[in-house]
Amino acid sequence: MERLIPQNPDQASKEAREIQNISRSVLLQVRELISDMQSIDLGEECQQAAQICESAGISFKLERNDELGGAPPIIRNILSLCLRECVTNVVKHSGAHKCTIRLEEGPGKYILQVEDDGVGIAKENHDRFGSGLLGMKERLLLIEGKLEMVTGETKGTKITIIVPKVKKPAITEGIQ
Ligand SMILES: Nc1ncnc2c1ncn2[C@@H]1O[C@H](COP(=O)(O)OP(=O)(O)O)[C@@H](O)[C@H]1O
Ligand SMILES: [Mg+2]
Repeated sequence: MERLIPQNPDQASKEAREIQNISRSVLLQVRELISDMQSIDLGEECQQAAQICESAGISFKLERNDELGGAPPIIRNILSLCLRECVTNVVKHSGAHKCTIRLEEGPGKYILQVEDDGVGIAKENHDRFGSGLLGMKERLLLIEGKLEMVTGETKGTKITIIVPKVKKPAITEGIQ
């Protein structure tokens, strides 16, 4: 961009503004995450989910092979927010009788799955995702996570979130 300044100052200032906007939005997201981080924990969020489902008359099941206790706080935090959003959606939109949450630590990845047996999301509505689903995808980008959705009318909805484990650089590297 620096080379653009003398050649094309208009374009350069437009690009500078874009960069400024992007950094503002990233900063806002990070601030939001940090302020949420103090109050959210994955284990507590699972209990909360059970309560929310129970009070909505939806039977709730939690299957887990791990509490993901070894996952870094940022991953636990983002997964907690995703869990909250998914369960809110189940209660708000699905009309389900049953909701199952799976929390797994697999080789190289963490998995969160939220499944319901409700009305599902019709294909034609897939490009009308609201702020909830889009917000989850945006947050997941920060930890290179991805969200997959299996759904169809009357077949319920299954959301699978997969987050790769971060490879920590070996501390001993370079130490003789
Ligand atoms: N579990 C679900 N069952 C049925 N429909 C759902 C479910 N989750 C989401 N939806 C549909 O997808 C839409 C988008 O969801 P979302 O992005 O969370 O926005 P919002 O919850 O604010 O409407 C919802 O309005 C709803 O129509
Ligand atoms: Mg929502």
